[in-house]
Amino acid sequence: MVIRPIREEELGTLVNLWKDSGLPFRPEGRDRMDRLSQQRKDDPDLFIGAFEKGTMIGAVIASDDGRKGWINRLAVLPAFRRKGVGIDLVEESEKVLRKRERKVFAILIEGDNRASEDLFVGAGYKREDDIIYYVKRDDEAF
Ligand SMILES: CC(C)(COP(=O)(O)OP(=O)(O)OC[C@H]1O[C@@H](n2cnc3c(N)ncnc32)[C@H](O)[C@@H]1OP(=O)(O)O)[C@@H](O)C(=O)NCCC(=O)NCCS
Repeated sequence: MVIRPIREEELGTLVNLWKDSGLPFRPEGRDRMDRLSQQRKDDPDLFIGAFEKGTMIGAVIASDDGRKGWINRLAVLPAFRRKGVGIDLVEESEKVLRKRERKVFAILIEGDNRASEDLFVGAGYKREDDIIYYVKRDDEAF
């Protein structure tokens, strides 16, 4: 398996990977192709894919808000799960973010996603039960 940045021409494959992995996405909002393309151009190192014989089998988008590093949109194709691909993508994200001097890494996980919770606990993340996520949307598509 090779872990490397995702190229511009692979963004369509990335979206298909989200679909095949059952990861909800916002095709009319922040996951619209032109927005993904711009986001990748702004920070190409943060779009990370796992490839087996040239096929994208997993991916993650890291982000850096200047204070924390965030792990977003982690997904692995069902046929390749439980082989450590998810963990490898998280570790690669942390590596890239550490190069930017980030020392805190964070993830938002939906309450019923046990697989993801177990993965991040295994990767050393601590659950913060006293934080409640609030969000305000100017546009519901986002
Ligand atoms: C969550 C996801 C990315 C895990 O990918 P993966 O490649 O299977 O993960 P790994 O093989 O690296 O798993 C590492 C550890 O995570 C935990 N884990 C992973 N999948 C699990 C599952 N279905 N149930 C329980 N624990 C699980 C285990 O502790 C596992 O270690 P083990 O296999 O030695 O027991 C994958 O299931 C997926 O794409 N899910 C759909 C999309 C999603 O929910 N993404 C996360 C958004 S926050």
